[in-house]
Amino acid sequence: MLEVRDLHARYGDSHALFGVNLRVREGGGVALLGRNGAGKSTLMKAVLDAGPLCKGQITLRGRDLQGLATEARARLGLALVPEDRRIFVNLTVRQNLELAQHGQASDRPATSVEAMGRLFPLLPPLLGRLGYQLSGGQQQLVAVVRGLMASPSVLLLDEPAEGLAPKLAMDLADEVRRARQELGLTVLLAEQNIAYARRCTEHVYLLDSGNLVFEGDWAAFDAQPDLKTRYLAV
Ligand SMILES: Nc1ncnc2c1ncn2[C@@H]1O[C@H](COP(=O)(O)OP(=O)(O)O)[C@@H](O)[C@H]1O
Ligand SMILES: [Mg+2]
Repeated sequence: MLEVRDLHARYGDSHALFGVNLRVREGGGVALLGRNGAGKSTLMKAVLDAGPLCKGQITLRGRDLQGLATEARARLGLALVPEDRRIFVNLTVRQNLELAQHGQASDRPATSVEAMGRLFPLLPPLLGRLGYQLSGGQQQLVAVVRGLMASPSVLLLDEPAEGLAPKLAMDLADEVRRARQELGLTVLLAEQNIAYARRCTEHVYLLDSGNLVFEGDWAAFDAQPDLKTRYLAV
């Protein structure tokens, strides 16, 4: 449903992606792996037209996104949860979530804070708290739920496990997997945390310096242990 063809991206004279091809099927979960600077965030921003200058083709359910601004892409069902989370620290969690509802995709079922609270049991006790009163893990949960408030059909998650304790990261990965099942959500996940990515996706793309160096399922990824040492180890 989401397809990226021969995507080149740059910031001024600095090139970040070199002819990347990627597809995520309807309802699928795809991990985009790669070390810092590999181009993961650039690809996700390219899909939303939120930063880099791009050449190539990006289609959503066969529709070419060329020329569509970020908000128009959001209305078509795309949502990005950015790396830096961007929770409003002086608003409550509920206010943060309600603000995000304004971008709701027109052809998708409406959602509500209450519905999200049923889907994520950890959420209701946090609703009255201010953004700055949240731990890193709680912020990440709120950022994911906020992404879901617009009822997207495709959620792009940029390094949600970054900075989280391992156990908490795994719990959040389970939440993402459950959200996929319950909402029929398609997920493209940028990660360096392999354990997290494995837990909530089926398919893997590996980026290195703006080039794809592997594509396959997790079994195929595991069958080439050198991928990890060459392209992911720090
Ligand atoms: N706003 C920017 N301006 C200039 N260069 C950037 C910008 N954002 C990212 N880059 C460069 O693009 C490349 C890919 O970065 P990025 O997509 O953020 O990688 P990743 O998300 O995999 O860590 C890096 O070389 C990075 O320095
Ligand atoms: Mg990044």
